[in-house]
Amino acid sequence: MKRLGRRCALTIVLALSAAAPAAAQWTTLGAMPGPRQEANRLTFRNRQGTVVVTVVEPDIFRVRFAPRQDLGRDHSYSVVPGARPDPAAVFRIARDRSTITTAALQMTIRHDPFRIAIADAQGNSLDEDDPQNGIAFSGSTVRVWKRLRDDEHVYGLGSKTGDFDKRGRKLGGYSYTMWNSDTYAYGLSTDPIYVSVPFFMVLRGGRSHGIFFDNTFRSNFDIGHQSEGLLSFGADGGDLNYYFINGPDPKSVVTRYTSLTGRMPLPARWALGYHQCRYSYYPDSKVRFIAQNFRERRIPADTIWLDIHYLDGFNPFTWDAERFPDPPGLIADLRRIGFRTVPIVDAHPKKAPGWGPYDSGRAGDHFVKNPDGSVYEAPVWPSQGEKNPGPSVFPDFSKPAAREWWGGLYAPLVKAGVAGIWNDMNEPAVFDTASGTMPLTVRHDNDGQPTDHREIHNVYGLLMTQGTHEGLLRLRPNVRPFVLTRATFAGGQRYAAVWPGDNVSDWGHLRGSIATLMGMGLSGLAFVGSDIGGFAEAPSAELYTRWLQTGVFYPFMRTHTTLGTPDQEPWSYGSLYEALNRRAIELRYELLPHIYNVMREASLTGVPALRPLLLEFPDDPNTYGMEDQFMFGADLLVAPVLREGATEREVYLPKGDWFDYWTGQRHAGGGRIRMPVTLASIPIFVRAGAVLFSQPVVQHTGEMPGQPLRVRVYPGLQREATFYEDDGETLEHTRGGSALRHVRYDAADPRRHTVEIGAPSGAYRPAPRSLEVSIRWDGEPARVLLGNGQVVPRVASDAPDAQAPGWTVDQGWVIVRQGDTFGALRVTIER
Ligand code: GLC
Repeated sequence: MKRLGRRCALTIVLALSAAAPAAAQWTTLGAMPGPRQEANRLTFRNRQGTVVVTVVEPDIFRVRFAPRQDLGRDHSYSVVPGARPDPAAVFRIARDRSTITTAALQMTIRHDPFRIAIADAQGNSLDEDDPQNGIAFSGSTVRVWKRLRDDEHVYGLGSKTGDFDKRGRKLGGYSYTMWNSDTYAYGLSTDPIYVSVPFFMVLRGGRSHGIFFDNTFRSNFDIGHQSEGLLSFGADGGDLNYYFINGPDPKSVVTRYTSLTGRMPLPARWALGYHQCRYSYYPDSKVRFIAQNFRERRIPADTIWLDIHYLDGFNPFTWDAERFPDPPGLIADLRRIGFRTVPIVDAHPKKAPGWGPYDSGRAGDHFVKNPDGSVYEAPVWPSQGEKNPGPSVFPDFSKPAAREWWGGLYAPLVKAGVAGIWNDMNEPAVFDTASGTMPLTVRHDNDGQPTDHREIHNVYGLLMTQGTHEGLLRLRPNVRPFVLTRATFAGGQRYAAVWPGDNVSDWGHLRGSIATLMGMGLSGLAFVGSDIGGFAEAPSAELYTRWLQTGVFYPFMRTHTTLGTPDQEPWSYGSLYEALNRRAIELRYELLPHIYNVMREASLTGVPALRPLLLEFPDDPNTYGMEDQFMFGADLLVAPVLREGATEREVYLPKGDWFDYWTGQRHAGGGRIRMPVTLASIPIFVRAGAVLFSQPVVQHTGEMPGQPLRVRVYPGLQREATFYEDDGETLEHTRGGSALRHVRYDAADPRRHTVEIGAPSGAYRPAPRSLEVSIRWDGEPARVLLGNGQVVPRVASDAPDAQAPGWTVDQGWVIVRQGDTFGALRVTIER
């Protein structure tokens, strides 16, 4: 490469094969004169453009390049504003290079040609621009090439099919596109699908960092695909605006990424129960029939969903008056038997002059426009309505006033009693066009800086859910909003749960769901779940059961199927399968106290509930490509049966001891075990030292108050945990209305084990209940004591008065029961 003078901004034209679509000829950044330093940033400028490097915090650096002299507005739909402490960075500017040092990182910026390298505080290189290419542009397209080492693994990128390790099966590498797409019955290598999160994590020998490319245009990530040793990413427009996020452990990367883009708020407890959906349950008598069946058959469930047939001509914010003559009555009756109702609300109101939402949208100028200023119209579901089909219009969710208007449209639904909202078709999907979406030329407000669809497409879904979430909050200020969305973007976790769209009822999709959901989790989307049973086509009885068993550990657990398929309810496959399916859903409800705690952790740290093993065992290379088993929280290893006709399951147990959840059998980790399985098997292993919180089976979360709380302590090194609870529904927990207790298990003395459960901090107190503490113990204890010496009697396991203290033994567990005083408690068992 020709060396350039410092002030000279000669263009080097690189002819690189199409690593990024629509750009074959790149101009790479040449020499940059010494930078200007202002506070925590350096600004470099030459005739090619401007680069600003900012220290966001000691572990996060930001690089922003644009082929312009003036960078203009600094705006993000993903990054949440917020004051951050002074990163205490030290800047050194020399003739040929600048360096920035923080407590965690060192960035070296070579001025000629302009190249960035980042190392940890010890000088170990983490990330380096490729010396040849570095940052480049071509017209409005921007891109950067970075070194990719042979032993680097790459994860994330939002909702993706295919291998969990985005480096690709043989580590040759793949390339991925960010462009939200309605992809009905997508395949196992379809890309892109519905969600774009331009964030990835790199893992190498146990150390991890991440890169978030904050650019909403169509973008592309090439991970060693074009050239083995190179990772490149870029977009069709906008700035090359990315954040380098340090680990060094992978959990810290996710935590820091979500400190930038926000976290999932703690969901309502009912939303963590089981959801039943199909396209579509109608009329109302069918909805009642389904709900009633759950109760009569004693299959737990919390939510029933209404798909587009409840609408008048598939038009959002309407009801079909024949099928659903009395929505509030229906919803109230369902509520009386413990069911919540969630209706679908698509992104495309019908063009219907004289109808409120259309008229108010027109009056407020809230719809997406054509370049000539007319309102953009296109066919979506309302064009297929049975009565008066017609085109739709599309709210411009990138306009703050439109988001607010949209949020207000939910008032009648909220008044009718719906518990949450399902936002769909928000890629946005458009029928009868080759692209499946709007023309790239349509106009959007873009938070006051008008632009075209290229810039807004990928955030259309995110901004729709923002409007919905904020609208629900205004309508019910003390209730946690529940929104499910199909499309979203980086940061979308702040507003909605996400499901990866229209999957297929086959075993490949069941298996693939794990990699997809783990990837979403690493990308900040913590409240996720695939359609159980598969959406397109119909599962066999066995596949449905296996999917439900896997779905017990999807953070969002919902069965859904498309129009015209056979019944897909837990009882639809005969009594043998009904029993298996009931048991799977019962397990979900037994574990809800634990699940709630793991989801709370995700809401605080961003670390997802459903997580790849590498988050817990980053030093174990066996976990790096693992996609047929996963962790739920830090302590449960779940290895669902994913093969048709399986009689065995191989499970990898990382180093350390593990307990079979069902039998209590102890396994030494550090290798694979084979276990026989039956149709009923849901292999789960509990990490030694874990504390597991559970409850007896309930039929819905409304039955939880007053249930005994079960605390099971597993021997091991950790032996400490916290237990969190609150009312499960309101926002009081954000104002101190919660209860947090510490649990400590002391088993150092083999003759005497002690469990201490601290008094709760926080103002919330649950309904009176009993506490059941289970301790692993060989044989019968000689004595069981409470507090400072109250001797507890042994009782029959079905003792009538659960509030009176008593203990029993069950399959290797000593179970000590007593009333929960909500004060400090201590249980001691002795040989
Ligand atoms: C889309 C959704 C699907 C829904 C259907 C009808 O295909 O992905 O979940 O059932 O539209 O609303």
